[in-house]
Amino acid sequence: MEPFIRWFGGKTSKLDKFTGFLPSNVRDRVYFELFLGSGAMLFHLKPREAFISDLNERLINCYLVIRDELPALIKELDGFRDAEKKTWNAGFGKDEKLRELYDGIKSEFNDSPVQGARSAAMMIYLNVRCYNGLYRVNSSGEFNSPFGGDDKKRRLIYDARNLASMSAYFKNNAVTIFAGDYRQAPICDVPYRKRFYFLDPPYVPLTKTASFTQYGSSPWEEKDFDNFRVFLDGLNAGGAKFLACNSDTPKTRALFAGYHVFSHAIQRSASCKGNDRGTVKEIVVTNYPVTSIDDFIA
Ligand SMILES: C[S@@+](CC[C@H](N)C(=O)[O-])C[C@H]1O[C@@H](n2cnc3c(N)ncnc32)[C@H](O)[C@@H]1O
Repeated sequence: MEPFIRWFGGKTSKLDKFTGFLPSNVRDRVYFELFLGSGAMLFHLKPREAFISDLNERLINCYLVIRDELPALIKELDGFRDAEKKTWNAGFGKDEKLRELYDGIKSEFNDSPVQGARSAAMMIYLNVRCYNGLYRVNSSGEFNSPFGGDDKKRRLIYDARNLASMSAYFKNNAVTIFAGDYRQAPICDVPYRKRFYFLDPPYVPLTKTASFTQYGSSPWEEKDFDNFRVFLDGLNAGGAKFLACNSDTPKTRALFAGYHVFSHAIQRSASCKGNDRGTVKEIVVTNYPVTSIDDFIA
């Protein structure tokens, strides 16, 4: 099982590094991931009991549809696949027709309600076919990535087997899925000492111009990060274990002071600009001791 969507800040490529920080008894704990995005860690761990959420309602709708309406979702996606096939027969002008198809689906997506199989299918389609393959919205919350062009090694719109595994995973395990702010999780009677939180919130920007509107939510401000610290302190006081990550800046160092902070250099993403030899530093923060992790400096 792997993420069905590519997501800004997705952790798929970093999983092997991050898993070294998980508490040894993580599988005996109830798993909480409240900034879910593409859910890389969730699908890696496949916990039996989990609470997963994200502020992005369109994204969470996809997860709910994968769980509850998979046949309807596949039907919609196959409709897009068939519409694409028709454009291939157009010969000359094919690229323009693919772009028109994409733009039509983009308009419908932005104008339609955030629910059901059609909305989920449009989100998946647009994500695969857009430029850079990443969900991105403008300041009004509208999906605004341009068409990615007709690439010769065209990716399939979806992986049926992966979606079926995901659907079965959600149905056969106690996974509670909800949309909303991370502090508004539904009431749950799992004692804090039995909880593990993997928390991957928006990153503190490395430059003044960087922001996080890509997710469909407002960029995090100073007070949002301060609230996050208060949230972590609440988890810690209750006895829960957490692993959080963010960029390595003086601000995050101050924000997470008192917890275990490990730093490592990672390759800048292709979309980043800068001349610092292509790497940026990220931190992993835990409220439990972690030993001997390669590449990380405590
Ligand atoms: C760094 S991404 C998470 C990436 C994820 N770990 C993955 O592997 O794809 C941060 C996520 O936090 C979500 N988010 C932003 N503000 C939020 C809030 N107040 N409450 C819950 N989720 C929020 C965004 O929608 C985004 O999906």
